[in-house]
Amino acid sequence: MIRIILVGYMGAGKTTIGKPLAAALGVSFYDLDWYISMRYRRSVPDIFAERGEEGFRDLERRMLHEVAEFENVVVSCGGGTPCFFDNMDYMNSLADTVYLKATPEVLTAHLSMGKGIRPLLLNKTPEEVEAYVRESLTQREPFYAKAKHTFDITLLDSIKEIDKSVAALRHQLGI
Ligand code: S3P
Repeated sequence: MIRIILVGYMGAGKTTIGKPLAAALGVSFYDLDWYISMRYRRSVPDIFAERGEEGFRDLERRMLHEVAEFENVVVSCGGGTPCFFDNMDYMNSLADTVYLKATPEVLTAHLSMGKGIRPLLLNKTPEEVEAYVRESLTQREPFYAKAKHTFDITLLDSIKEIDKSVAALRHQLGI
């Protein structure tokens, strides 16, 4: 039975790597933010706006407990998921957890290429985003570092780079 949970900062590539990894392994892929928005019929930014971050963290924890029970899956969780409640220990008790580790430079580059709205980065200039990434990464790193595996992420700016990373991750995990 395959159950892999990818953790790491916003912009690390959890979804970018998670989808092709799941496809290569022939299992389902779940993005926790997507799952939350389907279950509550609200986008993550709307949930933040309506319930505040505290309200979001409660829902996130509850939804993690649903998704982490699924079998034969790759799950990507939100950047903050491992850093609240006992979420990281809970994930470690059920899954092969992987910390996708990237430098603040790579994270900032990915975030600037990124698609979705991220409530925690809203209304920040590129300089402010970089400063925020540096500071909060330092606070979050100890939680991420509890993952069973750590995989170094380089700049994912082409399909080729993504494929290379997926292959290297599979090699590292022996799957
Ligand atoms: C968050 C990361 C987001 C999302 C929410 C909060 C965080 O997920 O869960 O906006 O606290 O880092 P991604 O890491 O997929 O962007």
